[in-house]
Amino acid sequence: MQIHTTIPEMRAACRAARQGQKRLGFVPTMGALHEGHLSLVRAARASCDAVAVSIFVNPTQFGPNEDLAQYPRSFERDRLLLEKENVDLLFAPSVEEMYPAGAVTWVTVEGLSQKLDGRSRPGHFRGVTTIVSKLFHIIEPDAAFFGQKDAAQVAVIRRMVRDLNFPVEIVACPIVREADGLAMSSRNMFLDKQQRQQALALHRSLMLVKSAWETGETVASRLAAIGRSEIEREGSVRLDYFEIADPNNLDPLANVSRGALVAVAAFVGSTRLIDNILL
Ligand code: PAF
Repeated sequence: MQIHTTIPEMRAACRAARQGQKRLGFVPTMGALHEGHLSLVRAARASCDAVAVSIFVNPTQFGPNEDLAQYPRSFERDRLLLEKENVDLLFAPSVEEMYPAGAVTWVTVEGLSQKLDGRSRPGHFRGVTTIVSKLFHIIEPDAAFFGQKDAAQVAVIRRMVRDLNFPVEIVACPIVREADGLAMSSRNMFLDKQQRQQALALHRSLMLVKSAWETGETVASRLAAIGRSEIEREGSVRLDYFEIADPNNLDPLANVSRGALVAVAAFVGSTRLIDNILL
């Protein structure tokens, strides 16, 4: 696996990897890799000739009171995991490499960036779309792989790619869960034993909504109330949002049919977790 830390080196290596009509797959990450990330790498490996991964904890997608400083960083471990997955190219730039002094240019997806996580985390999606655009310009992938766990992120990136004509196929891969249902997340490592148990309320709330919908309830407000009350029953879990929305434009739905996005975000202690299902 080649490791590059500068933009010119990574760009040259990616262009070389694509030579001869080769399809380059790209998995952007912030490191602290878990099985969810590795599933994206495997999906890229299965459908592309070469695979590039980035590890970059992007400061511009964290709000002033969020966990940028505490965000887990485990480069050596991540590197070994990616080597085992036969990744071809790893890009691990510094903050200065990605954001030269005086950088003032942003990519913003209007409207969509203010929904779900974007409403709770002002500026978050502006940081995501800016860094993902920069990475797409450097790596020039044919396909990029994202986890469905960040459903709002997937919608925002799909819209950016469409609106700005990026020649990249966006592939959303299924959520990878622990045996008891907890969605895998780099932030799960912040949970102590008791919080780890409490965090199961998120998945449970989604399953309750799914079974109510399967047994005939289609009014979104009633379904969302079922989900919210399951979260609120777990006294130490603080709900951020529980919403049923169109997965493409993230608008709330009044009536729920197949394909609807049911999404939840909640704080377990000070750790913010998200989860969702598509009905
Ligand atoms: O999903 C993530 O880990 C990040 O938002 C991404 C896409 C790597 C951009 O920093």
